[in-house]
Amino acid sequence: FGGQRLRGRRVVVSAGPTYEDIDPVRFIGNRSSGRMGFAVAAAARDAGADVTLVAGPVALPTPQGVRRVDVRSAREMHDAVLAAANGADIYVGAAAVGDYRPAGAAAHKLKKTDGEPLRLELTENPDIIAALAASPTHPFLVGFAAETRDVEAYAREKLARKGLDMIAANDVGGGRGFEVADNALHLFWADGDVALPSAPKTALAHQLMAHVADRYLATHGP
Ligand code: PMT
Repeated sequence: FGGQRLRGRRVVVSAGPTYEDIDPVRFIGNRSSGRMGFAVAAAARDAGADVTLVAGPVALPTPQGVRRVDVRSAREMHDAVLAAANGADIYVGAAAVGDYRPAGAAAHKLKKTDGEPLRLELTENPDIIAALAASPTHPFLVGFAAETRDVEAYAREKLARKGLDMIAANDVGGGRGFEVADNALHLFWADGDVALPSAPKTALAHQLMAHVADRYLATHGP
């Protein structure tokens, strides 16, 4: 794939879900398998980059030649990504980060409430990619947008609101996107877009990284 266009560049990729603990045995999670992000990490490695993969709880082997940091919660992922992205050239946020966590994880297993509703109070998690964007020396930022409707409008809104250089939108309605082997992406940046039709995530990740390299090298030299 187009030679080693990212040789000598440091790329950080996040992948997988986050688990937000309710008590010692229960958590709030999501259906991300990590497949998309792991494929992106392998594609960045194939482009010659030095790659760090920050992975939520997933059951996938580490791509060869990629440095992996395992995390569980959104706050752990936030800290690991910010540490790894310090001085990095490109960040690709493919992780499905939990937007909320229980306000306080119970120290002991919760008991049934005798027919009364059990209420969980949720607190907002930090936005990792927005935190990166807030630094004046931030890497080239590629976000994902997982949407079930109005994909383009929400993706463009996230591109602008989060201060990203590019966003990869996927329609995750009807069993698409999460968990499965194939995906389709629509990439948006400030003055362009390209649709990448349905393909195995491994192939799609190489196409995505080719467009990321184009946009990144256009602004950061050969
Ligand atoms: O893992 P798979 O099973 O292969 O599935 C792939 C996928 C569907 C999870 C992936 O393609 C995808 O869309 N990942 C992003 C999912 C998501 O949470 O999107 P979002 O629209 O909620 O978030 C937008 C962007 O902000 C993402 O880059 C996300 O990583 C980032 N974010 C979100 C919340 C938060 N607290 N911090 C963040 O950095």
